[in-house]
Amino acid sequence: MSKIYRSPLFYVGDKYKLINEIRQYFPKNISKFIEPFAGGGSVFMNVKADNYFLNDIDKNVVALHKFLIKQSENPSLFFQNIENKVNQYELSFSYKRNGIPAELKEKYKKTYIAKYNKENFERLRSDYNNSHEKDELMLYLLLIYGFNRMLRFNSEGNFNLPVGNVDFNSNVVLALNQYFKLVTEKNIEWFNLDYKDFLGSMQITENDFVYFDPPYLITFSEYNKLWNEEIETEFVNYLDNLHSKNIKFAVSNVISYKDKENKIFKNWAEKYFIMPIKSNYISYHDNTIKNFQEVLVTNYENNIKEQAQTKLIWNEEG
Ligand SMILES: C[S@@+](CC[C@H](N)C(=O)[O-])C[C@H]1O[C@@H](n2cnc3c(N)ncnc32)[C@H](O)[C@@H]1O
Repeated sequence: MSKIYRSPLFYVGDKYKLINEIRQYFPKNISKFIEPFAGGGSVFMNVKADNYFLNDIDKNVVALHKFLIKQSENPSLFFQNIENKVNQYELSFSYKRNGIPAELKEKYKKTYIAKYNKENFERLRSDYNNSHEKDELMLYLLLIYGFNRMLRFNSEGNFNLPVGNVDFNSNVVLALNQYFKLVTEKNIEWFNLDYKDFLGSMQITENDFVYFDPPYLITFSEYNKLWNEEIETEFVNYLDNLHSKNIKFAVSNVISYKDKENKIFKNWAEKYFIMPIKSNYISYHDNTIKNFQEVLVTNYENNIKEQAQTKLIWNEEG
């Protein structure tokens, strides 16, 4: 098992924990690796290909990737800029120092990082929101110090998450350094389009491979609000169309979750090859979920685990 890299965006619903299982079903030799719903990037980071074409509809996610790719040219300058900004806003910085007073730690045993950073985080957030030219370094810090390391904006385009109970620590530095190394070694192009426009603009040949990780119809997350039954139906029809053009693809999805079932996807998937994925999904709303079934569907036959490619025994008990 080779090393698994984690995206420095710590993206909600990222495939970091499942990538080892998922990628065993990917083709062995990939010319173009194409990811229309790339999110935090945990998948492309852990897949070998000659070239990477990555896309997400979220302009802030794409802006952060492009910003970090640029920073990979001079990581030490980037880390210096981070430290300067952290010092300017007097935020905690566990990567380098243990500056949080012992009394605060004693008083708020589990939430002292959030207590310590709250006001200064809010200052950073309002400076970011009020600035005309958006500074991606500030946005990256809002993500790192923010609630559940998420990105969320209100209808006016203002970042609107509260402070989180995390800061810039050695895990962040590790993820950033790995990312910098990987993006320097890989040929990457990022796009910020709807998946159909992105794929429509590309020449896809038989040595290329498209991995889809769309929002899931039946689970909860911020970006799932962009998805509904009509879009799901359009999406699976789109996949049939790719199949008819001999384009190789794999698609992740969740087909059952609590008392919900994604019938559109489940019925569609019966035509192809379905691999159950042993998800260790923990929802931040509810970590006692019993009935949860994640799958990977491919439109090509896999040699591995032939027994798993049969009809799925739908998970009733979890
Ligand atoms: C499940 S997440 C992908 C997570 C990713 N695999 C990772 O490891 O971080 C789905 C992504 O699809 C994006 N998205 C939603 N609607 C889209 C659309 N119509 N076209 C392209 N991307 C879209 C969301 O912004 C979100 O980042």
